[in-house]
Amino acid sequence: MSDTAKLILGDKTYNLPIITGTENEKAIDITKLRTETSFITLDNGFANTGATESSITFIDGEKSILRYRGIPIEQVAEHSTFVETAYLLIYNHLPNKCELEVFSKSFTEQAMIHEDMKNFFNGYPSGGHPMSILASMVCSLSAYYPELVKPNPSKEEIDLCVVELLSKVRTICAFSYKKSIGEPFIYPRHDLRYVSNFLNMLFSSSNRYYDINPIIVDTLEVLFILHADHEQNCSTSTCRLVGSSWANLFASVSAAICALWGPLHGGANQSVIEMLQSIIADGGDLKKYINKAKDRNDPFRLMGFGHRVYKNYDPRARIIKKKAYEVFNKLGINDPLLDLAVKLEEQVLKDEYFIERKLYPNVDFYSGLIYQAIGIPTKMFPVMFAIGRLPGWIAHWVEMRENPKSRIGRPRQIYIGNNETNYTPIGNR
Ligand code: SDX
Repeated sequence: MSDTAKLILGDKTYNLPIITGTENEKAIDITKLRTETSFITLDNGFANTGATESSITFIDGEKSILRYRGIPIEQVAEHSTFVETAYLLIYNHLPNKCELEVFSKSFTEQAMIHEDMKNFFNGYPSGGHPMSILASMVCSLSAYYPELVKPNPSKEEIDLCVVELLSKVRTICAFSYKKSIGEPFIYPRHDLRYVSNFLNMLFSSSNRYYDINPIIVDTLEVLFILHADHEQNCSTSTCRLVGSSWANLFASVSAAICALWGPLHGGANQSVIEMLQSIIADGGDLKKYINKAKDRNDPFRLMGFGHRVYKNYDPRARIIKKKAYEVFNKLGINDPLLDLAVKLEEQVLKDEYFIERKLYPNVDFYSGLIYQAIGIPTKMFPVMFAIGRLPGWIAHWVEMRENPKSRIGRPRQIYIGNNETNYTPIGNR
């Protein structure tokens, strides 16, 4: 294939360069399109538009392939830890023993939030959604680290931001949970590793010892790893766009948290459980809900199904489903919601509507069942997604800021409003 695409507009032919990625993906580079032709392209939801070149994560949606820095997700989920995966995504290589030890130790040292930030929690209603708290607290970190809010931070300053965010996100999330149940905050401990420390802050209390179960720690490691990055999804694109104005990393991540909250994105794990619970409450008639989802006049969608990129089974959903069975067996849990979810998947995957549209279970379909089994309340599910996705947001922000070709993101539009018209005064001035 030639390395240029020909665009014929009227009696003119334009040559547009073709870009080929390391996995042989092809793109037409339209960087000069408007200056050369005065035309722009239009692509609702950016389904056909590449925002950038990136070397962090590769997805092949047709073949159910997901790789972090080239390593298949199945191997990372099987052998790595969340802290090691975060390092791989952010620093573009697996850490050696010493690098991992230093990285891990820094989380222990930076786990506390400023005591003044505790006062913020007093202002929130206990029923407030924890994603609203997380988004504002993460942005507020920039008020406590003004030296890290420079438009052009040094590598050392970015490294410090990385540690502050990855370490403190656990404390903020655990504190927001404690606030919601009216229990006193449990501080991070220096003797506990990343996930165990988070579980301890969530579930232990001044009058209740929480026995950190290694099965649950391992399960959360895998869930966080599976959520760690997913190339240019809605929240990561938001993080990159906000960061492209040279806004600081705290502010860019805070915006990403807000984007993730939406039920079409990371909020879906909460909506899946609420959907399954309402199906049970309504008598368990799966066919009724599958038909509702197929009815164009009904806004109801089967949450946890479908994906912009995966037109085959989401590899993460496959791993999470297997993990759910493992955890439930080991913990002796018999959850009717899991049985219902499996039955729903079976019926959907046989239904022409879903087959034709290549709608399969995605990462959110089974994850909430595990969170619920661990004792995490539904409202905290998107927060769990945010903790997992944090390394990906950071990695993309750093990649974008380190790229000399990066420019402020500013899409164009096609105007379809009024043509020029005059102001008609009504004598109000
Ligand atoms: C995540 O991008 C990422 O990588 C995201 C993510 C990540 O790791 O960051 O993977 C995480 O966000 C997973 C997705 C979680 N969301 C849900 O589970 C919500 C339910 N899913 C859908 O709303 C939908 O599938 C999306 C939002 C995931 C994808 O939307 P698209 O790509 O814009 O697809 P679409 O809405 O254009 O749907 C195409 C067709 C439509 O039907 P027709 O117009 O062709 O008749 O499929 C139908 C849709 O109505 N459809 C569904 C459906 N999803 C799509 N019909 C019923 N139930 C569904 N879930």
